[in-house]
Amino acid sequence: MAVLVGNWKMYKTLDQAEAFIDQIAPIAKESGNKIMLAVPYTAIKTLVERAKGTNIVIGAQNMNDASEGAFTGEVAALMLKDVGAEFVLLGHSERRQLFGETNAFINRKVHRALESGIMPLLCVGETYEERQGNQTEEVLKTQLTECLAGCDAKSLMVAYEPIWAIGTGLAATPQMAAEAMKVCRTFVGDTVPLLYGGSVNSENAKSFLENKEINGLLIGSASLTADSFAKIISLK
Ligand code: PGA
Repeated sequence: MAVLVGNWKMYKTLDQAEAFIDQIAPIAKESGNKIMLAVPYTAIKTLVERAKGTNIVIGAQNMNDASEGAFTGEVAALMLKDVGAEFVLLGHSERRQLFGETNAFINRKVHRALESGIMPLLCVGETYEERQGNQTEEVLKTQLTECLAGCDAKSLMVAYEPIWAIGTGLAATPQMAAEAMKVCRTFVGDTVPLLYGGSVNSENAKSFLENKEINGLLIGSASLTADSFAKIISLK
């Protein structure tokens, strides 16, 4: 059984989101995999209700580290919990690169999510330059050490997403992903799912899942159309 997580990013109106769930639900039921969708805030409540009775788990793509307060435009963990989100992506490279999120900030969010009963899906990964400079292992170790500081690293998931592979069509090889998983595994318990993300599609998904180090996938663009997501979640 693989953990297959779709990340919709800033895509889909409510109508589009509902249509997607309706299309995917019967296929998800037949799939032996764990299926999760990180959706825009605006769709969480509706999709949680729509996905009841299916095995699709709904989550968020971000949250603030504070419990509540005067933080215009931000969303708190308890608000996500309140509308039924079961997990949250934290430290996605788009948040790190475009919105300046640091490991320390992400660490505070991981703590807040855990204490709020929402499972964090922590994303880590190196840039192209860091890989070229043989710094991948060191970068991953720093991200994991700092993002997981003081956390009970058992009730979460980790995604290795090399930045050069995200949205580029240039996926890492399963071998590269498996090497990164070995580094990640030393930071988390044996049961924590380790996922690969970065240009996963219906053609290459199986090659990652065949590797026993890789417990699942984090899927961006290929999770946007029901047809391609259906092919991935149907993999045995
Ligand atoms: P991608 O995105 O599958 O479109 O490369 C993955 C991600 O950003 O999580």
